[in-house]
Amino acid sequence: MFDLSNKTALITGAGQGVGRGIADALARQGAAVAINDLDPDRAESAANELRDSGKRAVAAPFDVTSFEKTRAGYEAAVAALGPIDILVNNAGIPAGMNVASFRDTEPEDWRKYLDLNAYGVMNCAKVAVDSMCDRGWGRIVTISSGAGQIGISLGISAYGAGKGAGISFMRHLAAEVARFGVTANTLALGMIDNHYDASVTEHLVKSIPVRRLGRPEDVGPAVVYLASEEAGWMTGQTIGLNGGSTTS
Ligand SMILES: NC(=O)c1ccc[n+]([C@@H]2O[C@H](COP(=O)([O-])OP(=O)(O)OC[C@H]3O[C@@H](n4cnc5c(N)ncnc54)[C@H](O)[C@@H]3O)[C@@H](O)[C@H]2O)c1
Repeated sequence: MFDLSNKTALITGAGQGVGRGIADALARQGAAVAINDLDPDRAESAANELRDSGKRAVAAPFDVTSFEKTRAGYEAAVAALGPIDILVNNAGIPAGMNVASFRDTEPEDWRKYLDLNAYGVMNCAKVAVDSMCDRGWGRIVTISSGAGQIGISLGISAYGAGKGAGISFMRHLAAEVARFGVTANTLALGMIDNHYDASVTEHLVKSIPVRRLGRPEDVGPAVVYLASEEAGWMTGQTIGLNGGSTTS
């Protein structure tokens, strides 16, 4: 089950954190992986480590917020690995992300969240989806956040707006491409233990029924399932992966 050998995957923002965990999990199931990141050194070192452990991996550094750079980077990944079967839109936290009440922000503060979480997802889907439809098989997974589904007073309204736009886009995309054998699903993550210091973690954990933050290793297996042959009947869904923080 969940065998991904003979599949290729492009994972955005995979030089560290959640994306790195996703790339490791897909590679363990046999996929050849293209590691995208805005930071070329991060992409290269993640790809090197995977290659050192015997996996097929290439670095694919580009900025997903630029359509032209995304197209060129995608084509370079295809030249190295062959057609991309699995796209994981993971990049979602822009450089310089900060927390501030909406009333304390200005329009120029909002753009980076929408550029990355709406345009970034759409740019990557645009360059990858035609080939998937033509070949009759594809999997698109977007890593979103509970912040795209519910309102919370953490000072992340523009981030939430970008995440919500990505969720909505994925639902429409799923409906359009399902008949070509391409699925599109979203994982709405809860808080992952890679950005918070110990005092914040202690406070946050109390609000999570499972009583711990998520880890990159919690996300990879869920992506493996959504990327698999076996998940062909699952499309257009937004699935909470959050230790039970929100339920539906
Ligand atoms: N960490 C959390 O608590 C949390 C919670 C919910 C959802 N998420 C989502 O999970 C995903 C991964 O989060 P993370 O915590 O691992 O992030 P991270 O910041 O640790 O790593 C993300 C990577 O994306 C890269 N990146 C940023 N902008 C890019 C761009 N324009 N083009 C290509 N790469 C770019 C960064 O260089 C970085 O290496 C994001 O979509 C995030 O919104 C994270």
